[in-house]
Amino acid sequence: MEEIQSERRSSSSDRYNSSDKEGLLSFRDPELRTRRTWLCQTLTMPILHISLILAYTILFFILQHNTHSNLHRNQHLIYSPLNDVLVPEKKFVHATFRSRNPYKGAPSPELDHAWHQIFVNSNIRVSARDLEKINKTSVPVGDGKGGYYAIPDVYHQLHCLKFLRQMLYNDYYQIKKPTNPIHIDHCVDNLRQNLMCKADVSLLTFNWVADDRAPKPDFDIEHECKNWDRIDAWAQEHRFDIFDERTLVHPTLGPSFPEKEYKDTGRIPGHPGFLHGHGEAGGHAQMTGQETEEYGKSGGK
Ligand SMILES: *[C@@H]1O[C@H](CO)[C@@H](O)[C@H](O)[C@H]1NC(C)=O
Repeated sequence: MEEIQSERRSSSSDRYNSSDKEGLLSFRDPELRTRRTWLCQTLTMPILHISLILAYTILFFILQHNTHSNLHRNQHLIYSPLNDVLVPEKKFVHATFRSRNPYKGAPSPELDHAWHQIFVNSNIRVSARDLEKINKTSVPVGDGKGGYYAIPDVYHQLHCLKFLRQMLYNDYYQIKKPTNPIHIDHCVDNLRQNLMCKADVSLLTFNWVADDRAPKPDFDIEHECKNWDRIDAWAQEHRFDIFDERTLVHPTLGPSFPEKEYKDTGRIPGHPGFLHGHGEAGGHAQMTGQETEEYGKSGGK
């Protein structure tokens, strides 16, 4: 042991000595040159290894960082075939009292048309594998093209909002179903839960204005949004028409939405929401029709 240590000491002092001398004695000294070569040879491998390890470590962290941010971007607790089309984006929600858009304002045919267009892709066909991933079953779409019936819930939430809007303007819409109160209750609570679920924490800010003691909120703020257009485009690719009587067929009662009966009577036989008493206002059937169309029509038909 001692021997080895002294060996090492002497060789290392030799090394220092030689490097000390280097400046004085030139490379012409063959012994020195040999030593130098030996030094290079012994150092090459460790330096190479250290460089490789460093490079590998840096690469590892870069890759891991990327995977992490990818994971973060595509991480979902709940599976949906639409997860793949979701890309968070910044968007201004223009919600000042004075802001205008086709969905806002008093009822009119144009406004109703705009609202109706929101729902044309709501009925979609999903695969057995999609359902497996959420541990659910659904009713098959029976038109021979396979798949199962689903609605991305955002369409249902929007339907609830549309229905509440119609209730607020019910002098115009004349929807007088006995199910209105329970439907209103359902929609308010559904929207409450979903708003709290999504919990948009973008900050509203305030300004002083000359004619108001109270600070004025700025409702024109930027939000982190989902890209609605891509979601709706995906739904459009997967939609089907529930008024095509081959698509939704009850095992014993027949087609869910028989078009002829529905068009003739404005109601769907055997569907509780459409069983109602007498004394309905004239426009009712038509409005009921619109309601159903939303779920039913897969648009462009
Ligand atoms: C799937 O759903 C069934 C019935 O709803 C339930 O019994 C089962 O525990 C669920 N399986 C998983 C993995 O969640």
